[in-house]
Order: sequence, then structure tokens, then C-alpha cells
Amino acid sequence: MYSVPKLDDYSPAALDARMQEALSAYQSEAAEVRAVAGDPSTNIVEKTGAFKRLRDRWMARQTGLFAQINDVWLRSAPPVAIRDVGLVVNKLRAILQTRLEELQRHVNFCALAPPETLVRMEAAGIGTLDLEAVEQSRLKTDAVDITLPGIRRPLGAEHPIVRTMNDIVGVFKAMGYSVAEGPEIETDYYNFESLNFPPNHPARDMQDTIFLGGQEQKAARDRLLLRTHTSPVQIRTMEKQKPPVRVVIPGRVYRNDAPDATHSPMFHQVEGLAVDANITFCDLKGSLDHAMKSLFGSSVKTRFRPSFFPFTEPSAEVLISCIFCGGSGYQGPARCPNCKASGWIELLGAGMVDPALYGFVGYDPEKYSGFAFGMGVDRIAAMLYGVTDLQLFFNGDVRFLEQFA
Ligand code: PHE
Repeated sequence: MYSVPKLDDYSPAALDARMQEALSAYQSEAAEVRAVAGDPSTNIVEKTGAFKRLRDRWMARQTGLFAQINDVWLRSAPPVAIRDVGLVVNKLRAILQTRLEELQRHVNFCALAPPETLVRMEAAGIGTLDLEAVEQSRLKTDAVDITLPGIRRPLGAEHPIVRTMNDIVGVFKAMGYSVAEGPEIETDYYNFESLNFPPNHPARDMQDTIFLGGQEQKAARDRLLLRTHTSPVQIRTMEKQKPPVRVVIPGRVYRNDAPDATHSPMFHQVEGLAVDANITFCDLKGSLDHAMKSLFGSSVKTRFRPSFFPFTEPSAEVLISCIFCGGSGYQGPARCPNCKASGWIELLGAGMVDPALYGFVGYDPEKYSGFAFGMGVDRIAAMLYGVTDLQLFFNGDVRFLEQFA
């Protein structure tokens, strides 16, 4: 431990040597304080306490080591040496003050820094922190160039399929229809049985169904599948409400088809159902004719051809006059590729609701009649937007999709 020596030699070299002794004593005591401060396991009180003890030991006004040096060295000095001793003592005070200030900043930083920082500082051999330098390098690395352009978030856009679906739904809403939806995972009962497809009926083969696994222990009607059409929501709607019913049902449907330019295992339909007293095939024809004119233009004609669906009787497929060749089948001298020169494009399945369905939902078939129709949205979107490959709608390429923004 350092204690203040008396002076006997007042030569500048001897005075300097005494000063260096005092400073190296201070340095080794400061090193201990720094070790306490840098130790991740000591707390804030221990760290700042260690510093204060060092500061007081050296700089306390009456009793500190520097006060003793000042006192002992100056008092004993012969008058000729007083000036030199005074210079050395002042220099020593200045150095001690600077070093203590530096040490205090370091200790304060360590007292507040999280332990991980202290561990990293120790590993990097950082002793006394030069906060000025830290600040300067932070200014450099954190500098922001306010002249750079900002980060733009691209605006999303309605997917062309969704837009088409909304357009179709909008046409029927304007005719007084409301919108209904149903689950994409359906039971055999809603997808088939209640729509008049009896178990094992060959009409089920029309729809290449994707069945969920692990359903064998359930009764056949409760087994789950991905709905092959939106028609189950006809039943779900009629179960929930009494006539009059007028609903459109947009949604996703699934069939076991390999994807190619005209097929996708997932696609979209919009279904329609109207049930009331005195609804006739004329209402079906008029409603669909109006809807197709709204969607494709007032010059479009519709045509109904006999067809078969288990849940409608009679059933029809509905065609519109080809919107590409105006129904002529030819574009100039060339055969129209869109309608294969027939002048007609098949767009919907439709028909009068088979009275057998009313038995499943508790409607009186003597009182009520109705019609239903269903259309594939994806083909309509492809026609409207001139898209030749259905897969473009589904593989998520932004370069394709952003053209519809
Ligand atoms: N659900 C039928 C299909 O997907 C279409 C349809 C709906 C037919 C409503 C008639 C009535 O093929």
C-alpha cells in the first residue's frame, strides 16, 4: 500500500521519480477497481462503491493521499525548491483528476451494462471506455442518408378469380339474391346423398372425388370428402330457411383431376338457388339470360340444351353465344378457336330443383318449386381476361398477378 514519502532530494529528476511512484501506485489500485467493475458477477453497489473508495482515498479534501502529498512535500520544501515542488504537485493533481474522471465513466458504464456486454468487453480486452470514440463511431455506422428513396410497400390487388367471383355474385345480388357459403370439407351426405346421388349410384362417377382418409369406421353418409361442387350449400341453405329462397353461393371446390391448362384439382364455382311458389323453367331461363347479358354484354345470347344432374329435373346445360366471334364461329376466314367454330360456349349446369331434394329438407313439393344453376368461375375468368393456361391463376407468380392490379 502506498504511503506518502518524505522528500530529501528536491532535484527535478528526483521530484519526477516521486511523482511517478505515486502515479504507479494509483494505477495499480485503479486496476483493481476496474476488475471489480468489469466482473459480471458484481452488482452496481459494489462497482460504484469500489470507485468511490479509490477516489476518496486519493482525493478526499483533508485526508486523501493527494492532500497529504501536497501538505508533506510543500511544507518540508526549502524556499528555493517550493516552485519546483509546486509544479510537480499541480501536475500530479491534474493527472489524477483526469484519470479518475475517465475511470468514473468506465465504472458507471459497467455498472449499468448488462452482464453479456461485460463478458464481451472482457473478451475484447476493453479497459477504460473512450465514450467519445464510441459516440463518434456510432454516428458513422448509424448515419441515415435522408436523400435515399423510401421503402415502398407494393399494394396488393384482388386476384382475378376473386374479382370474377365478386362480379358474378354482384349480378345476382342486384337481382335480389343473398350470399351463402358452406364448408369445403363436406360429408358424403351433403355432397351426394341429399342431392339425390344414392350410395353407389353411377352418377357419382361424374365427379372425381377426393376423399379424406381414416373414415372407414364412420357410417357412409358421415364420411368426409373435399366437396366436388357448391351444390351441398343448396341443402344447407334450405335446411336453415323456409321459402322464398334466393341465394348465390361462391366457393372453392375440389376434384381428383391432374392440373393442366384447362384443369385444376382446386377450382371455383358460383351456385344459385331460387325456391318459391310458382317458380318455373321460364324464370330460370330469364334469370340466367339476364345474368349472362350483364356479365358478357347485352348482345350475348343464351341457349339451353337437355342434360342430366341427379338434383335437377329437368336439367340443362347453358351455353352463351361465343363472345370472341360474336356467335358466327369464324373470325374473318379463320375458325374461332374459342368455340371450336360452333358459335357457342358451354358455361353452366342448371335445372329445376328435383322434388326429391325437398324431402331431405322438409319442404312441401306440392307447394314449392325452384331452380338451381352452377358455373365454373375459373373458365369464365380465363375467357374474360384472355388467359390460356388455368395454372397461371394458381401458381402465385407475382409478375402474372400484378397485371390485374
Ligand atoms: N353442381 C353441378 C356441377 O358441379 C352444377 C349444377 C349446379 C347443375 C346446380 C345444376 C344445378 O357440375
